[in-house]
Amino acid sequence: MKDNIRIFKNADESAVAVAELIKNEAITKKQAGKKLNIAISGGSTPKQLFTLLGDEYEKSIPWDAVRFFWVDERCVEPTDADSNFGMTYDALLQRAFIPGENIFRMKGEDVPENEAERYQKLLWSELPARDGFPVLDLVLLGMGADGHTASIFPDNLSLLDSEFSVSVAIQPITGQKRITLTGNTICNAEKIVFLITGENKADVLKKIIKKEVGSEVYPTYHIVARSSNVKFYLDKAAAVKL
Ligand code: 6PG
Repeated sequence: MKDNIRIFKNADESAVAVAELIKNEAITKKQAGKKLNIAISGGSTPKQLFTLLGDEYEKSIPWDAVRFFWVDERCVEPTDADSNFGMTYDALLQRAFIPGENIFRMKGEDVPENEAERYQKLLWSELPARDGFPVLDLVLLGMGADGHTASIFPDNLSLLDSEFSVSVAIQPITGQKRITLTGNTICNAEKIVFLITGENKADVLKKIIKKEVGSEVYPTYHIVARSSNVKFYLDKAAAVKL
């Protein structure tokens, strides 16, 4: 198995492994007098991770040295059940040990085009830059069963090459507008971690990892192909076809 792929018995153990990675990254940054700039995804998979971090990592992670950015956000109120921020707030960010000044949420409730522009400016002001794009330390991604990641869907691969750091996207089935980091911003990160669980991801994941003919239709394929710093944290169910 490739050395950038780690497979765990179940989603719980996968979440623990990513929590440990985040802990180690944060400690390393803190020891260097710096902060960990992490961009997080939404959806159901990371909820387990965020809950674990909130319940069991208060003391072991230097939270003052962790700054939260978002990979994407649904264009809804933060209190909406669909909100990525809302999910993360309930699971982790509401905890008193998370400094509010370290939370840089995408404002899904605002006009999408305006928020994409605002967030792009925010990234440029809060992060270092390299090759014309902001640099995050760690980007935590998921993957949909259709091979999408962030809010870059198979019907809009142009977001991978956008000149912008942040863009408006549309969920192809629901038509829901999203704010998303673009492919160039994601691939500019120091490290990218895909946390993928569940057998419903197994087929597409196999095609992408084995670089099968036709896997270029999946946005996740292109993130992997363009980045030398991608790691996969999988449960056995998602990895069953590898
Ligand atoms: C989102 C996420 C999205 C997610 C995948 C996987 O806003 O939905 O950023 O890219 O990572 O859809 O979602 P699940 O973890 O729920 O399968």
